[in-house]
Amino acid sequence: MGKKVLIVGSGLIARFHARAVNASGNLELAGFCDTFMPESARKASAEFGGGAWGGLDAALEESGAGMVSVATASGGHDEAVKAAAAHRVPVLVEKPLSITTARIDELIAACRATSTPLGCIFQTRWTDEFLEAKRKVENGELGRITYAGVRIPWWRGDEYYTKSSWHGTWAVDGGGALMNQSIHMIDWLTALMPEVVEVKAFAATLAHPMEAEDTVSAAILFKGGALGGVYATTASFPGRGKMLEITGTAGTLEVTDAVTGASRPDQLEYEGHLRCFEAFAGSLDSGAPYPVPGEEARKSVSLIERIYESGGLRRNMV
Ligand SMILES: NC(=O)c1ccc[n+]([C@@H]2O[C@H](COP(=O)([O-])OP(=O)(O)OC[C@H]3O[C@@H](n4cnc5c(N)ncnc54)[C@H](O)[C@@H]3O)[C@@H](O)[C@H]2O)c1
Repeated sequence: MGKKVLIVGSGLIARFHARAVNASGNLELAGFCDTFMPESARKASAEFGGGAWGGLDAALEESGAGMVSVATASGGHDEAVKAAAAHRVPVLVEKPLSITTARIDELIAACRATSTPLGCIFQTRWTDEFLEAKRKVENGELGRITYAGVRIPWWRGDEYYTKSSWHGTWAVDGGGALMNQSIHMIDWLTALMPEVVEVKAFAATLAHPMEAEDTVSAAILFKGGALGGVYATTASFPGRGKMLEITGTAGTLEVTDAVTGASRPDQLEYEGHLRCFEAFAGSLDSGAPYPVPGEEARKSVSLIERIYESGGLRRNMV
């Protein structure tokens, strides 16, 4: 029997966590905890196995979990991470780790105080495309990098926002197209490029009945002088593949993916989560570093905050 995983949250992505755990030879499903909708945890455990809890302390005490994965709405991550840290159970959290850098700092401190490992789920970090891009950049194969940019021209219908209690809200989603959908590519950009020195951005809500932005256009100056850009939207019908471009004096890399996920989040595959979960669990056993600890996950949210700030967006959140 493998390490027992308690999944906190029981919505769409929690089901991908459960599929990943059940597909892994090294992990075992302890069950689901949903403080927001306990009935939903019961339904998920009936479908995937394990127990069901409506309270975090009871779930952590009774489930025998050796690892927690957090799959609540983004603004609900903090409560789960703090409970896991208090119980000293290693915790792997959906992106974004939390919805502001101030809140992320609190989570990092809470986990550090009890020596609890903290990781963030960016499952596209294990793709061949990302690993190849990382190798090329680290080996200097592109020469002096002159420009690095990401484009995420996705589409969500109005119902994505109107039927959810939290999508596109500042208080729980922490933003719109940038914080929710585009953060995977922002993560790539901040993982591959040096520190961001300056950001000039526009952000707007052009197409959907939502509180936060559905379209962002930003220009970036990186340490060392390279320029960069971000175009992120959920207002580009019918949705196209996302793109990363890094170019320099000796070469260019361009990654363009298929349309998967652009318009149908339910069509995600669980294999990315499986690699991510096994890497985190493996790091607990071997002591090898997990590639996206709290400090690394902070970088994407920091750039997003700077884009919002430059774009003149006011965030009504604690
Ligand atoms: N890695 C990926 O590719 C990927 C894809 C989709 C979602 N996500 C992330 O997973 C998380 C959950 O997204 P989802 O699509 O499963 O959402 P969902 O709406 O399907 O499920 C949300 C879950 O959180 C609970 N919840 C709802 N509102 C809450 C609130 N205000 N406070 C606390 N809990 C609340 C619900 O009971 C439910 O268990 C988000 O952080 C999202 O960014 C990641």
